[in-house]
Amino acid sequence: MDNLTEKVAELSKRRGFFFQSSEAYGGVAGFQTFGPEGAEVKRKIENSWRETFSRGLGHREIEAPTIMQEDVFKASGHLDGFDDMIIECPECGTSSRADHLIEDNTEVEEAESFSTDQVEALIKEHDLECPSCGDSLTDVEVEDFNLMFETSIGPGSGQTGYLRPETAQGIFVEFPRLKEYARNQLPFGITQIGKAYRNEISPRKGLVRVREFTQAELEHFIDPEEDEPDIERVADVELMLYPVGEQEKDDGEYVYATVEEAVEEDIVESEWVAYYLGIAKKWYKEIGVDMDRFRYRQHNEGERAHYATDCWDAEAEVDGDWIEITGFAYRGCYDLKKHDEYSQNDFTVFKEYDEPEVVEKKAVDADMGYLGPEFGDKAGEIKDKLEELARQKPEAFEADKVIVEVEDEEFSVPSEKANFSVEKTEEHGEQILPHVVEPSFGIGRIVYTVLAHAYDEEQVEDGERTVMHLSDRVAPTEVAVFPLMDKEGLGEKAREVADKLRSEGLSVKYDDTGNIGRRYRRQDEVGTPYCVTVDYETLEEEAETVTVRDRDSMDQKRVKIQDLAEHLK
Ligand code: ATP
Ligand code: GLY
Repeated sequence: MDNLTEKVAELSKRRGFFFQSSEAYGGVAGFQTFGPEGAEVKRKIENSWRETFSRGLGHREIEAPTIMQEDVFKASGHLDGFDDMIIECPECGTSSRADHLIEDNTEVEEAESFSTDQVEALIKEHDLECPSCGDSLTDVEVEDFNLMFETSIGPGSGQTGYLRPETAQGIFVEFPRLKEYARNQLPFGITQIGKAYRNEISPRKGLVRVREFTQAELEHFIDPEEDEPDIERVADVELMLYPVGEQEKDDGEYVYATVEEAVEEDIVESEWVAYYLGIAKKWYKEIGVDMDRFRYRQHNEGERAHYATDCWDAEAEVDGDWIEITGFAYRGCYDLKKHDEYSQNDFTVFKEYDEPEVVEKKAVDADMGYLGPEFGDKAGEIKDKLEELARQKPEAFEADKVIVEVEDEEFSVPSEKANFSVEKTEEHGEQILPHVVEPSFGIGRIVYTVLAHAYDEEQVEDGERTVMHLSDRVAPTEVAVFPLMDKEGLGEKAREVADKLRSEGLSVKYDDTGNIGRRYRRQDEVGTPYCVTVDYETLEEEAETVTVRDRDSMDQKRVKIQDLAEHLK
């Protein structure tokens, strides 16, 4: 379908799925409001995500603040490295994302993985122009631009804070409390659905690139040496994979493999990542992502985030563009190690051995009564060097004399004055840094994909209809109830039916305006799976039946009111 993007945007604005925020004041790029229908789709997708990725896998959800202090982002690496490449037009002042400029105007793909110098060179080579005024950008410098929104916390000069660019950091910083909650038992998973903020250089395409968006993230903390995912659960799930090796070939192709094959054939390096690709694939299908317009693509080295050792994206196609809707990253111990180093807290977990292990502890108990008079103000440092040597090269104490070097000077200490000893102790475990596997879902992009993949224009008997073939799981309204006309008791009966269905837990819309055909079209446009009409026959029959019209087939059948809720469910 031509211009699906524009059609979805137009319908979304008109029918209340999503639209530019604060339009009354002209609006600011990168902020979108979910209207009544869109907010409901979003909530349903979030709830379904919770069912699948949180409760369904035995994980727990938390809710952390969206503003965090500067130290957090110094540790996480976002302050130094969370940058995109920016190029500013000297003529009109428009800022553009330099890598996107290349991707949009040349055959080059994934320009994000290049350095600023390489990007500058490509802009020159292709003689690229400002997308706004058309002025040449060939001699303009490309710079790094940090995407975090800065704020100050408290009055006066306050403390510097940042709006979190990923919900994940809200989980990582709480790890000392969370591990206590999990009684130090790995593996365990923590989820969070919440807002993330990025000062995108050029927001675009409605919900696809915005400056405030909702992420649903799962941080699964594992012991990399012991813990394995339950691959059996997803072994047969079929994946369409686009590994780096294929992307680099001119005639690169998709690789089709089940999760089990992807692991066995090393197509996906981490079996944890493969496991989540499988779980997520089933979920996307359930919520209505079209599997013919869906793939998993591996990140190349330059594209990978600073914390990831392997990363795959779930991508959905709309209008020929592939949109990243989820990132699946193996973050290793990067984040916990950093917070362990930068904070005053302990981010390790005590790992108990199956059997206690006997370890030899090598130590010295240097005779300061000898070292002091003999070496004067160097005695302390010589003692430290002896202790270091005991740990690193215990055999040095087998000779009569031990030589240590302090500030480029050698000192000889009689071995008996060092008092070297080897003590055997039993150890019951060790402190380890867990590894993290992270599926990170962008809810807005998923809502957008579901809407775009559901959108259809069909030729029907009385003309053309626009219909959203939304999955029952995400349709904002489950059933619409109409009286054929709002007279002769029909409206009363229809309102009664609507109330009854609401009391059964269904999401119901009541509509008595315009002719029935119009009302059907309105519901088709917002994806309502069923429309119920109360007509004269309803009132005539003792059994009280109504017509139930199916959105997709447009078939109608009569159902008894008393069986209606059950029938619809
Ligand atoms: P992109 O390369 O498109 O900028 P990203 O690689 O920076 O995306 P991640 O950092 O992996 O994205 O973020 C995880 C998820 O959050 C993405 O898969 C996406 O769904 C969502 N996301 C990221 N940035 C945005 C944004 N600006 N607007 C909407 N959703 C976003
Ligand atoms: N938590 C992954 C990301 O937002 O980059």
